[in-house]
Amino acid sequence: MKGIILSGGSATRLFPLSKSISKQIMPVYDKPMIYYPLSTLMLAGIREVLIISTPRDLPVFQDLLGTGAQLGMKFDYIVQDKPNGLAQAFVLGEQFIGTDPVCLILGDNIFYGQNFSQMLQRAQQTGDGACIFGYYVKDPRAYGVVAFDEQANVLSLEEKPEHPKSNYAIPGLYFYDRSVTKRAKELKPSARGEYEITDLNRTYLDEGKLKVELFGRGFAWLDTGNCDSLLEASNFVSTIQKRQGFYIACIEEIAWRNAWINQAQLYELGEKMEKTEYGQYILSLCVS
Ligand code: DAU
Repeated sequence: MKGIILSGGSATRLFPLSKSISKQIMPVYDKPMIYYPLSTLMLAGIREVLIISTPRDLPVFQDLLGTGAQLGMKFDYIVQDKPNGLAQAFVLGEQFIGTDPVCLILGDNIFYGQNFSQMLQRAQQTGDGACIFGYYVKDPRAYGVVAFDEQANVLSLEEKPEHPKSNYAIPGLYFYDRSVTKRAKELKPSARGEYEITDLNRTYLDEGKLKVELFGRGFAWLDTGNCDSLLEASNFVSTIQKRQGFYIACIEEIAWRNAWINQAQLYELGEKMEKTEYGQYILSLCVS
């Protein structure tokens, strides 16, 4: 399975900027935002990742993450000239995807909770079809919304509905079989002029090939769409890390626990950042 992080768009909805700069190059608490979605893909066991961003910010990501070899991974990079919609990721990523199944994660989505790795494993076993997730929120109008019956059969999908049919928002994490690029190429732009991920998911729903996995109420899904949610995400990460001493989205730690790098390599990565608490945390893992 391959992974794609869509890290473009712009932060103009977040800050009074006239230029398009993607918010994923900013930190959430003590690390770049992109570490969070990247760590999710790593927890799913995905080693080959395509990062898609704006012409302006892609070089920043490239500089930050390099080839991926330092983590025992492989990173590719592609520019998205304009934020024409999430489903475009599969057209831009056609060559990268090849004939593999693929997982897409949005660069501003943060997931944290127990049994997450197992959920990711289950989603990967979808085989022929697609798997999305559902997360109960008080007001789902800003999101894709999924309604389902008691057996978790999907009944409907709506994008940012005025009158949602359920309280279950669809987080920015999606698993697809190899037919996804062909489907994405056949989509028409929506009324707001974007190639919508919800329209892509509907093609699977229409064929009875869409599965939904639900996150429980103890699970945290955060997105960083506005200033408050960005601050809340930073506070959340800081609170958990300080309380437990475990780091959220430490990509070096996950690579090591996945046995993609050995302890000597982990130590070397920690040493390069030893002036930061993040680097100290990595070094502390090496003595345990
Ligand atoms: O966060 C989950 C939601 O993400 C889903 O519930 C919705 O169904 C889905 O449409 C999406 O809604 P958003 O309103 O959050 O989408 P937005 O346009 O803000 O894009 C999400 C991220 O993806 C954002 O960081 C920018 C980036 N992006 C977006 C577009 C449209 C790109 O990199 N390229 C794009 O073309």
